[in-house]
Amino acid sequence: MTIERIEHPTPPPGNMDAMLDALASQGWYEWPQALSPKLCQQLLQESEAYARADKLAPAGIGRGSIHQRNAEIRRDKIRWLDGKSLAQTQFLQQMAQMKDTLNQAFFLGLFEYEAHFARYEQGDFYKKHLDSFKGRANRMVTTVVYLNPDWQADWGGELVIWPRVSDLTDAANEPPDASTIEQPLARILPEMGKMVVFLSEDFPHEVLPTQHPRVSIAGWFRCNTSLGGIVDPAH
Ligand code: OGA
Ligand code: MN
Repeated sequence: MTIERIEHPTPPPGNMDAMLDALASQGWYEWPQALSPKLCQQLLQESEAYARADKLAPAGIGRGSIHQRNAEIRRDKIRWLDGKSLAQTQFLQQMAQMKDTLNQAFFLGLFEYEAHFARYEQGDFYKKHLDSFKGRANRMVTTVVYLNPDWQADWGGELVIWPRVSDLTDAANEPPDASTIEQPLARILPEMGKMVVFLSEDFPHEVLPTQHPRVSIAGWFRCNTSLGGIVDPAH
């Protein structure tokens, strides 16, 4: 009997070092197999159970008192992670390690990670936005983990990453010509196990309308912007 090793055309798995290099040089990173398939399956099952039990809520925009729903901007339904299941615990542990690694590499002073499941039904989208605004330093690093097995390239639902805001401001001082028409930096398929990481204040991004249900966990490493010892509340 001969055993042949089948070569799968899978993308390189990526790793933490490559992530740090990419964040330093370009500010974002696409990490194709960041989470184990087993953990992804468990997280997906959990999120499907929430969807069936109607335990996902329409997402809003803004924080605290300026939080509002706006279906013109985003249509996904979400549920914040509470760390109560084994799968969530494992995921949050992995993210806590990543937080330590980011702090050691960049002295970012990240102190917390907040994350929610997000589900986009057919036709849902999230228009171009920033996750955090300069000067209001709070959300520093965005992560999005995708939980969609066998995602097809023609199903829409890509995450589109646009050029850095600072690069845009420079371009705005130049007279417009064809070469300054904005092109996306990346169009990323929401494939199971993939994690996208980017600097929250720097990169406008959007979720294109999806043709199939699309499940992800969006999360943010935050630094503490509390005043007078009052901890700035999460979400
Ligand atoms: C977000 C977001 C991107 C995605 O929730 O803020 O931009 O690909 N999500 O789900
Ligand atoms: Mn976002």
